[in-house]
Formats: sequence, C-alpha cells, structure tokens
Amino acid sequence: VKRVGILTAGGDSPGLNAAIRGFGKTAIGAYGMELVGFRDGVTGLVENRTVPLDGAALSGILTVGGTILGTSRDKVHRWVVDGEVRDMVPTVVDNYHREGLDGLIMLGGGGTAKNAMKLVEAGLNVIHLPKTIDNDIARTDTTFGFATATEIATEAIDRVHSTAHSHHRIILTEIMGHRAGWLTLGAGIAGGADIILIPEIPYTVESIAETIRARRARGSNFSVIAVAEGARDVGDTADYEAAQLLVKAAKTPQAIKAAKTHLAHVEDQQREHTFKLARELEAATSLESRVTILGYVQRGGAPVAADRILATRLGAAAADAVARGESGVMVAARGEGTELVPLSEVAGKVKLVPPDHEWITAARQVGTGLGD
Ligand code: F6P
Repeated sequence: VKRVGILTAGGDSPGLNAAIRGFGKTAIGAYGMELVGFRDGVTGLVENRTVPLDGAALSGILTVGGTILGTSRDKVHRWVVDGEVRDMVPTVVDNYHREGLDGLIMLGGGGTAKNAMKLVEAGLNVIHLPKTIDNDIARTDTTFGFATATEIATEAIDRVHSTAHSHHRIILTEIMGHRAGWLTLGAGIAGGADIILIPEIPYTVESIAETIRARRARGSNFSVIAVAEGARDVGDTADYEAAQLLVKAAKTPQAIKAAKTHLAHVEDQQREHTFKLARELEAATSLESRVTILGYVQRGGAPVAADRILATRLGAAAADAVARGESGVMVAARGEGTELVPLSEVAGKVKLVPPDHEWITAARQVGTGLGD
C-alpha cells in the first residue's frame, strides 16, 4: 500500500479543497493508497504536524473555500528561526521517512514548485499541482482559483459601474496581481472596464487622462478603471524591480530582513499608488475620483464550477501519476487534458501576460485604454 502526504502552500485559492478531494478520492478509491495531510503548508512539513485523511475527511469539502489543511508562505530551504536562516530539507527528508511516505503532493504556486524541487533533489518523490488566483504559473494553461477570482472581480466592476455613472466619477477598482495582470485583464474585459492597467504595461497618467477626456467628449462623463495592485507608472518600474532583485540576492538573515523591509516599503508606496493615481486623474480631468480595493474577497469563498472541475481533474491526474511512480513534475492543464511538466520549467518562474496576447489585442480593439 502506497502512503502519500499532501499539503497546500502559498496564498490560498478557491478550489484547493476540491483538488485535495479529487486527489484523495482517486488515491484511496482507485488505488487503495493511504493519505496523510500536513498542516499549514511547508511549516507542517518541517514541524511534522500531520492529520490523517480518510474518506470521511474528504467528504463535503468540494464546494468549501480556503484549505482544510491550512497554509503558509514558509520556504523549506530558507527557514528563518531565531534570526537565523536554515535549510530544513534534511529535516523534511527525515519526517518523510518517519511517516513512511512513498510520495508527497504539494499544491501551490511557483514558489511551492521551488520548494518541491529542493525536495526532489534530496531524493523524495514529489508532485506539484498549480493553484493561484493570479494565473501566473509557467507551463500550465491555467490554475484553479483564477476563474473564481475573475468572477468576483467582474461582479465588483459591474457594481462599480452604476455608481460611477450616477455620480459622474472615475472609480479605480484595484484587483490582486502583484506581478501578473491576468486577473485584472480578464475581469476588466468581462466587466467592460474603460481602462485596464496591468504590471506588464507600465502606464502614464497622461495616457489614462486622455482616454477619460475622449470618453467625456463622446458624452460619457464617468470612467471605470481596473487596476492591478502591481500596475506601475512608467517612472516607478525601476524601483520595484530593483527591490525584488535585492530580496532574491540576499543571503544572510540581516540582508534578507533589510531587503524585505525595503520591498515592503516600495510595495506600500505601490499600494498608495492607486490613491495617488486617483488624485492625479482628478487633477488632470476635473472628474471626482474614488478607489475601491477588492482585497481578500477575491480569494475567499466557494469556487465556481470551472475551478471545481479543473481542481478535480488535476487532483485525479496527480493520483494517476503517483500510481505510475512519477516524481519531480507538475500536473499541468493542457487543452482538454493534463500534462506532466518537469518542475525545473516551473520553479520560481512567473507567467506574465505577453504584450501580443489575444486578450490585450481584443481589449484594444473594443476601445479599452491600457494606459500606454
Ligand atoms: O496569491 C497571490 C496573491 O493573491 C497576490 O496577487 C497578492 O499580492 C498576494 O497573494 C497577497 O497575499 P498575502 O497577503 O497572503 O501575501
């Protein structure tokens, strides 16, 4: 009997429980495997905090948001304890053998894929499943959570429209996505935002103001802007990229702490940025401007049907892969099916919106401003 561990890591995403269930029911039902859950992502893996997962534990969770296992953003190879950075891979290898595991399923994003790869290099059998509302994982068509978050953000843009229209205002709706603009672009198109600002296309205030003025000249004295949290003014892009590089390059605990504090500061300014942009647009267009930050409502609650289906498919395919003895791969969504992709092609990578992507072309064709 194969004994397999499972954990969820990184930011939560609607569909995590559906994937745990899809994997677990297939693993137990079709292959007679035994399942053990690790609590709170990599943290529970390092601290060996487990929970047995049987059929009863997997029942009734398909539609539930969040993750029954809990999650964290800890890294197995950069574990900070008492101001010291440690490589906890050996501890995890011990825990894996102590639990008598034959495999480990890690549900997460690009960062989790990196953790998974470290464990594969240490000789463990690990399979990764892609989840994030940001849809920014390399080598998979899409990720579960994205469809749900797109629905939520689209509805928010819909609702903001009628109030922007009634008050003749500009309303900036800030949507998650610190690196990739998929969610903002998707929800912006679906919600008919007049302007969409994403990290991949740095904006100028003048270009946005021009779009708003042109709309007013055509009789529309309001505008709805979908703005990604990571969208940046052309003038600010260098600061952010430099801060990110510093974090990646930092080796000592002090350097890591300083670099993270600096990045948080730049990100704070970034957060302020949507408000700053609102003030700048008010000055440039004489239209009142307001900001709505969607925040964590985008990640919470029940997954939509598309995410439940995707998560179930990927979970079941992961159980097939374990049964075949696969390791070191991510189970990717590819067209109507699934595909196993080497972790090295996924780990630490980010899938940005390509500038010639069809969604961008379509947005431009229907007259949406992209701020450039
Ligand atoms: O899961 C990715 C994401 O949703 C980003 O878009 C966002 O910047 C980030 O999570 C924020 O999450 P947390 O506060 O949990 O780090």
